[in-house]
Amino acid sequence: MHSITGTTFSLPEEARPAVAAAFAAAPTPGADTDHLLDHGAKLLRNCLPPQLLADLADWRHQPTPWLTVTGLPATGRHLPTPLDGFCDEATLGTANLVHFGLLRLLALSPVAYRWENEGRPIRNVAPRAEAADTQTSWGYAQPLDWHTDDSVLDHTAGAPAAEAIPHHLSFYGMRNTESVPTDLLLVEEVLAALPDSTVQALRRPEYAVTAPESYASDGEEPAREAVPMVWTLPSGHPGLRYGPGRVTGLTEGAEAALAAFETRIAGLDGSSVLIGAGDFHVFDNRRVLHRRVPFTPAAPGAGRWLRRCYALGATS
Ligand SMILES: [Fe+2]
Repeated sequence: MHSITGTTFSLPEEARPAVAAAFAAAPTPGADTDHLLDHGAKLLRNCLPPQLLADLADWRHQPTPWLTVTGLPATGRHLPTPLDGFCDEATLGTANLVHFGLLRLLALSPVAYRWENEGRPIRNVAPRAEAADTQTSWGYAQPLDWHTDDSVLDHTAGAPAAEAIPHHLSFYGMRNTESVPTDLLLVEEVLAALPDSTVQALRRPEYAVTAPESYASDGEEPAREAVPMVWTLPSGHPGLRYGPGRVTGLTEGAEAALAAFETRIAGLDGSSVLIGAGDFHVFDNRRVLHRRVPFTPAAPGAGRWLRRCYALGATS
C-alpha cells in the first residue's frame, strides 16, 4: 500500500530574493520563543505570496501526515555546524524567525522537555564526535531504526504539554551536505499489513516503555507501565508509540504482537524526504515512524545540520 501521505509547497523562485531580504533586514530577534513565534509569523504574512499563505492555512485545517516547504530564506551568512550540539541562538535570527513563524502559521506550539536537550526548545541535529555511536540525533555511525520520539511520555489527549508525547517534529534545514534523507513510514500502512488480532493486542494497555538514550541519565527519567502501543487520535487516525528496545510486552499476547509488529516494520521502506538548506519540514510523530541511515559526516563545521523543534497541535 503506497498512499499519498505527504505534501510539498515551494516558495516560487521569483519570490525568494524579496522574502530573503525581508528576513535579512529584520532586527536581531533574540531567543525569546513567544517573540519569535509572533514576529516570525508577522514577517511571513507580510512577505510570502498569498497563494502559499492560503496553502499553509488549508494544510492547518486538513493536515497530511507530513509537510515540506522548500525555498525559504537560508541563514544570511556562513555559520559552522556546531560540534558540541549547542550554539549561540542570537546568531540564528533568520533560522528561528522562519522556523517559529511557520509553527505559528500552522497553529503548532513548541514544546521542550526537562529531561532532554537541557530543556531547550531547539535541538541541533548535528554530528557530534563523542556521540557518534549513540542512538540520538547527535549520532551518525549507527542506524536509527524505525521509531517514534519520546514514546515514554503520555499519549492521552488531555495530557499536560510538558508530559505529552510530542504531536509533531518540525525541522528547519541549515545544511545537508551529505544528502542524508529522513525516512518516514505511515502507521496506517504498518497496521494494514498486520492481522486484526495483532492490532487489537497492540491496542491493549499491556506494554511497558523506558526512556530513550537522549534523556538525561540522572535516575529521574520517566518510565511507563501498562500503556497501549496503538491508540486512536482525536482525528480518528491511529497513533503509535515505539522505540527499538524501549517497549516490552507485559503479557505473552502483547509480546507476540510486538514481535509481529517489529518483523513487519523491518520489511517496509516508507518514503524518503531530504531536508536541505532553507527547507521546513514537519511530520506527525504519532502517525508516522521515522528512521535515519548511518552516514559519514562532512568536515567538522560543514556536516549535516538540522534544527528540530517538538510541537503540539491545539486539537490533534
Ligand atoms: Fe527520532
